[in-house]
Amino acid sequence: MLKVNEHFLQLPGSYLFSEIARRVGAYRASKPEADIISLGIGDVTRPLVPSVIRALHEAVEEQAGEKTFRGYGPEQGYGFLREAIAGHYARRRQVALQPDEIFVSDGAKSDTGNIGDIFAPDAVVAVCDPVYPVYVDTSAMTGRAGTYGKDGRWSRLIYLPCSRDNGFCPQLPGPHDPVPDLIYLCFPNNPTGAAIKADALRDWVDYALRHGSVILYDAAYEAYITEDIPHSIFEIEGARSCAIEFGSFSKLAGFTGLRLAFTVMPHDLRVGGVSLNKLWNRRQTTKFNGASYLAQKAGEAVYTEPGQREIAEVIAYYQQNARQIRQGLSDLGLEASGGVNAPYIWLRTPDNTSSWDFFDTLLQQAQVVGTPGSGFGPGGEGYFRLTAFGSHARTAEAMDRIRRLFVG
Ligand SMILES: Cc1ncc(COP(=O)(O)O)c(C=O)c1O
Repeated sequence: MLKVNEHFLQLPGSYLFSEIARRVGAYRASKPEADIISLGIGDVTRPLVPSVIRALHEAVEEQAGEKTFRGYGPEQGYGFLREAIAGHYARRRQVALQPDEIFVSDGAKSDTGNIGDIFAPDAVVAVCDPVYPVYVDTSAMTGRAGTYGKDGRWSRLIYLPCSRDNGFCPQLPGPHDPVPDLIYLCFPNNPTGAAIKADALRDWVDYALRHGSVILYDAAYEAYITEDIPHSIFEIEGARSCAIEFGSFSKLAGFTGLRLAFTVMPHDLRVGGVSLNKLWNRRQTTKFNGASYLAQKAGEAVYTEPGQREIAEVIAYYQQNARQIRQGLSDLGLEASGGVNAPYIWLRTPDNTSSWDFFDTLLQQAQVVGTPGSGFGPGGEGYFRLTAFGSHARTAEAMDRIRRLFVG
């Protein structure tokens, strides 16, 4: 008899954002006049930059002409974009990549979730705690996470705690700890806003090389780095033999609606003698028919000289919000981190208030919405995430209200 994939039945409901919506909805119903500001969303708000818009218009015109029309493109992405991405890695990061090590896709969310397809079903997965939930839920869907416990932990996952004690940067497993096969790392981090220094990243690369693990490195927020730290794991020697990197145009250039991303699969990366580049190529050509030509032409424009200048201005706009939020919270004596190399600020809730109680206080007394840290895993309890993706005016207003809430 047909059965569903029972691993899906283990998944807890997507509680976080539906519960936020429910609480905001209930508050709005009781106070219809309330002017609620959201610093909770992980989505950008600024429009696409002029170079990207121009490229989109041109690509649309091409689609209108008999001679210039394009249908299916290469599943791996057009050469012009793969070369532009490789050129950027070489120029800005001194990282040499072959264009065929870059696989263009429609999102880092899909790629970080789908990557499990090319590994054995019993691979042991390590995730940070707190974590971007996609890594956990997609591991659960394939059965790699085991069973879900009452404590909010999966039985087969290895959790790497990220707390104030380690500066939200996970420590290597000890010599007697189980060895993970796959290690998801995300830096700059969602949700904590923490970044990783070269030495710490080198330790992880060395660990992976020693143990035959593969690091799944999510660099979706690398463009927000302001300090002198690695943007790419491939800046670390040896990473080409033990790491896969995920890049995204979403927070880089505001493509959350347009959809474009890429995954870097170095040729040197082999598991049991098998090239992961070849396996991913097989997977993509079978299950994916390529990102849209329009999005790829738009992506190419991001790497032009004016494109780079224009996206830098937008990123600087969000970075200014991040600084303002972080500074505002620190001025109030609150413990806040992140916001320097990331668009996220991670706030320790005052007086050991639970994440959800703090959410209610902020909503009801300041009409400001954020994201409870506990929604990102057990290690997020007692924390709260604010994002820098709003307008200057609304961010300033939200911080004013938080200030009034704390100092009266
Ligand atoms: C850590 C992380 N990776 C990936 C993504 C998704 O990227 P994309 O829009 O390319 O699917 C997000 C989006 O919020 C994210 O926070």
